[in-house]
Amino acid sequence: MKIAVAGTGYVGLVTGVCLAENGNENIMCVDVDEEKVNLMKKGICPIFEEGLEELMQKNYQKGRIDYTTDYKSAYKDSDVIIIAVGTPEKTDGSANLDAIKDVAMQITECITKDVLVVIKSTVPMGTNEKIEKLIKEHLIDKNIRVEIASNPEFLSQGTAVKDMLHGYRIVCGVESEWAKEILQEIYKNFDQPILITNRNSAEMIKYASNDFLALKISFMNDIANLCEIVGADIEEVALGMSYDKRIGNKFLKAGIGYGGSCFPKDTKALHWLAQFKGYELKTVKAAIEVNENQKLKLIKKAAEYFESFEGKKIAILGLTFKPGTDDIREAPSISNIKYLLEDEADIYAYDPVGIKNVQKIFGDSIKYSDSIEDVIKDAEACFIMTEWEDVKNFELKKYRELMKRPLIFDGRNCYDLVEAKNEGLEYYSLGRAPMNPEITTVIDNRNKEQK
Ligand SMILES: NC(=O)c1ccc[n+]([C@@H]2O[C@H](COP(=O)([O-])OP(=O)(O)OC[C@H]3O[C@@H](n4cnc5c(N)ncnc54)[C@H](O)[C@@H]3O)[C@@H](O)[C@H]2O)c1
Repeated sequence: MKIAVAGTGYVGLVTGVCLAENGNENIMCVDVDEEKVNLMKKGICPIFEEGLEELMQKNYQKGRIDYTTDYKSAYKDSDVIIIAVGTPEKTDGSANLDAIKDVAMQITECITKDVLVVIKSTVPMGTNEKIEKLIKEHLIDKNIRVEIASNPEFLSQGTAVKDMLHGYRIVCGVESEWAKEILQEIYKNFDQPILITNRNSAEMIKYASNDFLALKISFMNDIANLCEIVGADIEEVALGMSYDKRIGNKFLKAGIGYGGSCFPKDTKALHWLAQFKGYELKTVKAAIEVNENQKLKLIKKAAEYFESFEGKKIAILGLTFKPGTDDIREAPSISNIKYLLEDEADIYAYDPVGIKNVQKIFGDSIKYSDSIEDVIKDAEACFIMTEWEDVKNFELKKYRELMKRPLIFDGRNCYDLVEAKNEGLEYYSLGRAPMNPEITTVIDNRNKEQK
């Protein structure tokens, strides 16, 4: 089976490579970005994603996967074309489908045989149907069979390869036995349940899943804010909640809010779509509002210490929206840096992999370093935006030794409150109260079989 993948971003490239890794041959990844394609052809991964470059090289050497900008030759005789281009947010919150439509029109120009077009990008309900109509209308040879299937992606950046190879499930939205069989064939070596639904349900499963996770994060941040007011500790609260299997132990961590290229836009897109259809999705609306406030929580706290940040050296630790990725889209660091720059702060930023992308936004208006020590030296305040391992493991005493004033605003709750205090730091984190280690304990009298 010949497979083309349109778009080699975080989703498209991982998809192409993992399909090859699990035995599919003849995969051609297409991108409009020539620089990216040149890198990939040399075996260089254009994004930071653990394990991806090794699998790219392995499968390229086996002759299973290749890269091109020449969409015509790639799509012309493909059996399957997987669309994985971006669907960013428009100013009104709705999803921008321009890139999907571009690929659809390119497909109509050049296909010469029956093809299943699979939309892997996150798209609002009804998009698969609309794109199928668009392709059929513009198709030159009306005898060719073109059908669209929905196959939303659930990977998380930072663990994308693992997520795709060993995910919780694969969802396929189809309208025919033909489409179902093709998708089953492609995914036959994947060790995960394959759920076949209709296309609208598949599209909705993706939004509902992402929005539910965003809701969980915003809920915990909301509770964390209340914890601060009433003197409870969000980490004890989360631990207590996590024992309940109906709640689970994931996504209970309070922080400075969700970012990235998915949760922010997918919550807004679903909310927009509901409103467009005359329904108000109140829960999702609340998740969005809580997140917007959360992003600037540290700055608001810091404003209690500084009348103005003008001319002050401010350290930022972590720029990416989470550890394990170089992606800075909608990262809380960006909105905070913008605010600090408006106030003319002298910003020094550390990140192990995200600097190149941040430089594209802020250029030389901030200074960058891959050394935490350099960034915090003589700083008057430090903001922690991403919980990189080397930030979490950074010795607390160094803040005291190196900073002009050891004042830390930690948006990821990286350090123990008591240890930070004992080290002489002025340390503000989110939703926490000092715990007495002698009191906070878990006593579990169940025997092993019960646990
Ligand atoms: N990033 C994630 O973690 C994630 C997870 C699940 C789903 N998604 C969804 O997957 C989709 C892709 O996201 P992403 O993060 O991989 O995007 P991305 O921005 O990283 O990559 C998109 C790629 O498509 C390319 N492109 C644009 N137009 C093209 C065209 N006409 N032909 C070929 N290539 C073209 C771009 O050059 C870019 O390389 C989005 O809908 C997103 O919501 C993303």
